Amino acid sequence: MQRLALIGFMASGKSTVGEVVATRLDVPFVDLDRYVETKTGMTIPDIFVTLGEQRFRAIESEALRAIGRDMQCVVLATGGGAIVHPANRELLKASFTTVYLRAKPETILDRLKNAATQRPLLQVGGDPVQRVRDLLMQRQSWYEDVASWIVDVDHGSVEEIAQSVIETA
Ligand code: S3P
Repeated sequence: MQRLALIGFMASGKSTVGEVVATRLDVPFVDLDRYVETKTGMTIPDIFVTLGEQRFRAIESEALRAIGRDMQCVVLATGGGAIVHPANRELLKASFTTVYLRAKPETILDRLKNAATQRPLLQVGGDPVQRVRDLLMQRQSWYEDVASWIVDVDHGSVEEIAQSVIETA
């Protein structure tokens, strides 16, 4: 394993599982959202409000390119929308082993209840439950297209899911 990327919807556990996987494999861990925040000096919600989603996607894409180019060995937790741009999907497929942390809509909605405020895409008005369902429907086939492997995350502890990721990838 050289570069491992965790992909999946918001709240599927990419960051928490990724950190455990990286520690166990003794390789550097990078969270793409935190990387973008460090580079820009802005929080993700601030980037959405000040610069807009399109600009965020461009910054996110550039960050993904930089990590794919500069890091030989990494566990990367991507943002849930990192697979939206076709070029990112191609990059992920070409340069990373990818594990899709697949969660049912009910699992995601349950986990997002407490964390929705930090997710700008759920702040656009309308019914957040419907918004999650719509986004999931739109993105499902992209996650599957990019995935080298799929790990279901509806059950199990972070440690158990991390172990499944290691054994699978
Ligand atoms: C997004 C997911 C977020 C973050 C941004 C956009 C998305 O990351 O990148 O709010 O489009 O699904 P997480 O998946 O880590 O919440």
